[in-house]
Amino acid sequence: MANKASMIVDKDFVIGEIDKRIYGSFIEHLGRAVYGGIYEPDHPSANEDGFRQDVLELIQALQVPIVRYPGGNFVSGYNWEDGVGPVHERKRRLELAWRTIEPNTFGTNEFLDWCRKAGTEAMMAVNLGTRGPDEARELLEYTNHPSGTYLSDLRAKHGYKDPHNIKTWCLGNEMDGPWQIGHKTAEEYGRVAVETAKVMKWVDPTIELVACGSSNIGMKTFPEWEATVLDHTYDHVEYISLHQYYGNGSQDTPTFLARSVQMDQFIHTVISTSDYIKAKKRSKKDMMLSFDEWNVWYHSHEHDSKLDPWQVAPPQLEDVYNHEDALLVGCMIISLLKRADRVKMACMAQLVNVIAPIMTANGGGAWKQTIYYPYLHASVYGRGKALVPLIHSPKYDTKEITDVPYLEAIAVHNEDKQEITIFAVNRHLEESLPLSVDLRSFGACTLIEHIVLEHDDLKAVNTEQQPDHVKPHNRGTAAVEEGSVTASLGKASWNVIRLKLKA
Ligand code: AHR
Repeated sequence: MANKASMIVDKDFVIGEIDKRIYGSFIEHLGRAVYGGIYEPDHPSANEDGFRQDVLELIQALQVPIVRYPGGNFVSGYNWEDGVGPVHERKRRLELAWRTIEPNTFGTNEFLDWCRKAGTEAMMAVNLGTRGPDEARELLEYTNHPSGTYLSDLRAKHGYKDPHNIKTWCLGNEMDGPWQIGHKTAEEYGRVAVETAKVMKWVDPTIELVACGSSNIGMKTFPEWEATVLDHTYDHVEYISLHQYYGNGSQDTPTFLARSVQMDQFIHTVISTSDYIKAKKRSKKDMMLSFDEWNVWYHSHEHDSKLDPWQVAPPQLEDVYNHEDALLVGCMIISLLKRADRVKMACMAQLVNVIAPIMTANGGGAWKQTIYYPYLHASVYGRGKALVPLIHSPKYDTKEITDVPYLEAIAVHNEDKQEITIFAVNRHLEESLPLSVDLRSFGACTLIEHIVLEHDDLKAVNTEQQPDHVKPHNRGTAAVEEGSVTASLGKASWNVIRLKLKA
């Protein structure tokens, strides 16, 4: 057994109120996310709008509060006008970001209909790659202006009399990346972003805007990019974005599971950079963070490099996730919660088929990948206040990352439900980790359940044939006694310890 770990959970040590939008997700026109994923009119479960009901049910269970759309890299070459109006008049286009053919049979209005069915809200991105402020303000007028103008009346003519009132908008996508259509320097992007922000807020002052931060922590321009972009946009936007994916191509699982420590550093540096600009501008406003792309992504790289271009909805980025991927996803969620004071939105990228918790077969079934579970547990039970994780844990070093705690954990206090939930990962691959949690000011409580996701095989996956090969159970060992919880966290496990506070 590894040495013991301990944790103090105190209701006065509050990091911040968790904004439910940190459990957001992402649907891009990419691979089979839309076509064959959420939308497949010929599928046996499709409703009158062509939305797959089996997929909707899996998404509804996740209680996804917000979904980013339509990209991603896709948005930087997208003409939103191609995706509205009578479907038979819509244009098929070459899609250059992913080298496919975009049929445009699904567009803005279909997405917003789907959001209503899924019980979620839209986070819309505008194209600042090939287009600019003019198209962005026109799209906003089309979606949000009540009536009496050409574009708002066009929306009504398209069957949507009432405005969609989309509140959250991304000013482009990954504009720092040379792979991006219309890639820009920080100076170029900062200028176009602020001018776009101005006209968009003149159309609808109630919206909130996200400026593009760096595409990942490894970008050469990070964090100077954030400083320059925020210098231009600070007074006009509410959020700066972060994106990060991790892979385990070298099959070094201890390092892979330690990647969330680097995610903590990424978040910390973006906050520091934002606060520097705040000080420089003598501003009273805190810039919030939108971690609007995060996940594990590497399994599909080789497959995708061999795909023929110019297909409609080819199987791109279809990572099949294993048990260790679910553990890192759990750690990444804990990283978001640890800065609940500043990270107010986040999107697991993506939602269906494309690096996703949910997979489908065209015309066939829909099933949960391993990473579905930590996402589900956090979204359902991780609502309330995030509490400072005061942790003592044995640590390990890898060649690249040192001082990695075996225990990654955080507690969430839900005052409405009078519940505490502890999310915990044991990164140790061979040994269980005894944990004791001092509940201090919370006093007496009872155990609701201890959910565990564990598997002897770190590489175990779920498939259409074996959809439940990796799934959680609630036979964890947690026990409550006199204001403290003890548990043995199984090797390489994700744990959710749910406690009910006594009145
Ligand atoms: O989510 C897949 C892609 O990853 C997105 O299109 C892009 O923004 C990022 O590089």
